Amino acid sequence: MLAPIKNHQMKNIFFILGCTILFLASCTNPKQEKSTSKYVEELHSYAQPNKAVITHLDLDIDVDFDQEIINGKATYKIENNNSLEIILDTKFLVIEKVQVDGKDTEFSLGEFDEHLGQPLEISIGKETKNITVYYSTTDKTEALLWLSPQQTTDKTHPFLFTQGWPIFTRTWIPIQDSPQIRITYNATVRVPSELMAVMSAENPKEKTSNGEYHFKMQQSISPYLIALAVGDIEFKAISKRTGIYAEKSMVEKVHYEFSDMEKMVSSAEKLYGKYDWEQFDVIVLPPSFPYGGMENPRLTFASPTLIAGDKSLTSLIAHELAHSWSGNLVTNATWDDFWLNEGFTVYFEIRIMEALYGKDRANMLALIFRQYLDEELKNFKDTPDETKLKLNLKGRNPDDAFNDIAYYKGYLFLRTLEETVGREKFDEFLKNYFQKHAFSTITTEKFIVYLNKNLLEKNEITFNTDEWIYTAGVPDNQSIIKSDKFENVEKTLKQFIENNNVSVDVTKDWTTQEWVHFVRNFPSDIEQKHLAMFDKAFDLTNSTNAYIAMVWYEQAINHDYHGNNVDAKIENFLINVGRRLYVSTIYKAYKRNNRVEDALTIYNKARPNYHSMTTNTIDDLLGFQK
Ligand code: BES
Ligand code: ZN
Repeated sequence: MLAPIKNHQMKNIFFILGCTILFLASCTNPKQEKSTSKYVEELHSYAQPNKAVITHLDLDIDVDFDQEIINGKATYKIENNNSLEIILDTKFLVIEKVQVDGKDTEFSLGEFDEHLGQPLEISIGKETKNITVYYSTTDKTEALLWLSPQQTTDKTHPFLFTQGWPIFTRTWIPIQDSPQIRITYNATVRVPSELMAVMSAENPKEKTSNGEYHFKMQQSISPYLIALAVGDIEFKAISKRTGIYAEKSMVEKVHYEFSDMEKMVSSAEKLYGKYDWEQFDVIVLPPSFPYGGMENPRLTFASPTLIAGDKSLTSLIAHELAHSWSGNLVTNATWDDFWLNEGFTVYFEIRIMEALYGKDRANMLALIFRQYLDEELKNFKDTPDETKLKLNLKGRNPDDAFNDIAYYKGYLFLRTLEETVGREKFDEFLKNYFQKHAFSTITTEKFIVYLNKNLLEKNEITFNTDEWIYTAGVPDNQSIIKSDKFENVEKTLKQFIENNNVSVDVTKDWTTQEWVHFVRNFPSDIEQKHLAMFDKAFDLTNSTNAYIAMVWYEQAINHDYHGNNVDAKIENFLINVGRRLYVSTIYKAYKRNNRVEDALTIYNKARPNYHSMTTNTIDDLLGFQK
C-alpha cells in the first residue's frame, strides 16, 4: 500500500507543479494562447481541439465575381495530441481534396445540421503537422454577400464582403470555428485587377497592378474575426496608425466623419492599456452591410448609415474600437458567454465617449441604452430566461438568440459595479483584467473567480454578482442613469404639443441623440396635427441622418401618419439600407400595426439587397415564403 501523502508533501508537490506551469508559460510567445490549454465544451463547433487543433492558417484563394464563388486552398499548421483525425467545421462548401504533408489523405463529411453545417473529418498521422484543404464556396454561403455595381455607392464595380460572426466563417473557409480557438493567418487573395482586397490583417494602402494581395495577421484571433472585403475602394490616413477605406465618392465624407479616430485610440489606451493591434482602420461598406459595425481586428467594418455629416454617430466606432480589448484580445470562450464581449464593450464605449466629449454625451448614450434594455425586458416577459447574462444556447444558432440583453444589461451590471467600488479601483481592475487575459479566451465562471479575487475580496466588498449574471431581469441595486439634456428634451416636447407651436430656437443646438429622444418620446396618443407640425418644422421625413429618419419612420407607421410623402421615403430607405437593426425596427412597426401586407410588398423589392443575416431575421418576422 502507498503511504498517504501528508499535508506538507502535498504542498511541495503543488509548489513544484506550479513552478513547472510558470516555466512552461514563460516559454510560449505571450501573443499566443497556450495551445496545450484545455478547451471547454463548445456547442457550436464540431472541432475537438483537445485532440487536434489548428494554430495557423495559410489561405490561397481566387475571388471569382463571374461565378460568385471563392475557391482555392487552406493550409493549416496543427498541434496534434496523438489523434488519428482532425475535425474542421464546414457549411455549404465543396471539398475537392485534402492533403497531409503534401499527399492526398482520406476525409469524410458528416451529417448536415442546419446551424452547424457538416464536420469535415480528416485522417492524420500522430506526427502530422500540416494539412491542406482544396475547396470552393457555393451560392448557399451565409458569410459572403456578392453585390452588383448597382448595389454599391459608386455603382461602377461589384463588391464582396464577408461576415463571420458568430458561426459563419465555416461557410467560406473550412475551419475549427469556435471562439476559443485562436490562430494567426497569412493569405494570398486574387481579385479582378480594378478592385482592392482588404482583410482583418496588415492591409494594402493602394491597389496592386495584377489584383494579387498578400496578407499577414500575426496576432492570434478567433475564426469569427477572419474577414475580407473586395471592391473599388481607396485608403486615406487619419494618423500614422488610423485611417479609412471607402468607395471613391465617400472617401472625403468618411474621412471627415471619423477624423477623431486617433483621439479615440489614445483615450482608450489611457483607460485600459496599450492598443495591441498596431493599426486601427475602418472600412465603410455598401449600404447592405447588415450591422452598424463589426469589430474585425485592425479593420472595423462599418455601415454608411454612420455618415451623418456631423460626427454624431461615431460612438459606434468607439464601440468597435473597444472590442480591440473586450472581444478580440479577451474573447468569450463560448457564445453562451457573449455578454463578456458585448457588455464590456458597451461599458468601454461609453467611457471613451465620456473621455472625448464629456459626461452629457455619455449620459445620453447610456440612457438610450437603458431604454433599449427596458424594451427588451418587455419583449421577453414570457420567456424570462432570455434575459440572463449567461445564456444556454444548446441547439440554437447564436444569431437566432441574439438580442440586446448582453449589451445593455451587461453594461448596467458593470456600471453598477463601478459605482459600488469606485471608478479608480474599477479602472485598475479592468486594466489588469485585459492585460492578464490578453490573447486568450474566458468563460463567465472564470471571470467571476477573477472578479472575486481581484476586486471584491481585495476591497472587502460584497456584491450580488450571481444575481446579475444567472437570474432573469435586473436586480434592485442597479445604477440609476439620468440625463439633464434628455429631461430638457422631454419638457420641450410637452411644450410644443401644448402650445401647438414649435420654437426652432430651442432646438437649434440639439445633437442627434436629442432628436432621437424627442421622436421616441412622442405620447402614445399624439395627434396627426402635431406629427405634421413637427415634420413641417424639422423636415424629419427627409432627414439625411439615418438614425433620426429610422426612429421617425417607426413613429409614422405607429401613428398612421402619411404626410410629406413619408411612405415613399420609408420604402426607399428599406430598399437601400440593409442594416438589420434599422430595417427590423421598421418592419416590426408594420407588423405591430397590422400592415404585414404592405411590409411584404416592400420586402419583396428590398430582399435582394440584404445580407443573409438580415434576411434570416426579416423572413421570420414577416413569415416570408422563400
Ligand atoms: N459584434 C457586433 C456586430 C454584430 C452584431 C454581429 C450583431 C452580429 C450580430 C458589433 O460590435 C456590434 O455590437 N454592433 C452593433 C453596434 C453597437 C453599438 C450596438 C450594431 O451593429 O448595431
Ligand atoms: Zn459589439
